Amino acid sequence: MNREIQSLSPEYTHALGLKLGKLLQGGDVICLIGDLGAGKTALAKGIGEALAVKEPMTSPTFTFQIEYWGIAGNKPIRLIHMDLYRLRFPEEVEIIGVEDAFQEDAICLIEWPEIAADILPEDCLEIRIEGSGEEPRNISFRSNTNDWERRLKEFEEVS
Ligand SMILES: Nc1ncnc2c1ncn2[C@@H]1O[C@H](COP(=O)(O)OP(=O)(O)O)[C@@H](O)[C@H]1O
Ligand SMILES: [Mg+2]
Repeated sequence: MNREIQSLSPEYTHALGLKLGKLLQGGDVICLIGDLGAGKTALAKGIGEALAVKEPMTSPTFTFQIEYWGIAGNKPIRLIHMDLYRLRFPEEVEIIGVEDAFQEDAICLIEWPEIAADILPEDCLEIRIEGSGEEPRNISFRSNTNDWERRLKEFEEVS
């Protein structure tokens, strides 16, 4: 299943994250794919807002992962925001414990997930953002589960 949406502004990308974030639940893993400056962090911040994360979210480029507390479906939830851009070897994925973030009580957002391909859950949602600078962004969603299919349909209805 593949769905595409155009985003004409950073605010629109943020708003998409906000809508998507409302459909998330513990155990979800979302891979954010796209070049530097594509808008991965912008989307992640929208998701954080949807989950009522209080602290300002910053890019985890230098720390690999930052954990926040949020709320999903009236329950507290951990939001783990990762950025694996600076990893060079798949072994490092294990060293920093990426897999430890895949927990039922956590929602995990991974920028630059490619290096962790071997350990990503099969039911993750892949979001690809194409375009840079002031160009419109093409944002595509791909998953292979009925559960994501259902949730993305819901998402389209509110988009
Ligand atoms: N349609 C758009 N969606 C998202 N960001 C956009 C868009 N148009 C321009 N931008 C700009 O692109 C940059 C995206 O930055 P960021 O989200 O940090 O990217 P990434 O995390 O993918 O490296 C921001 O400076 C933002 O203002
Ligand atoms: Mg980023």
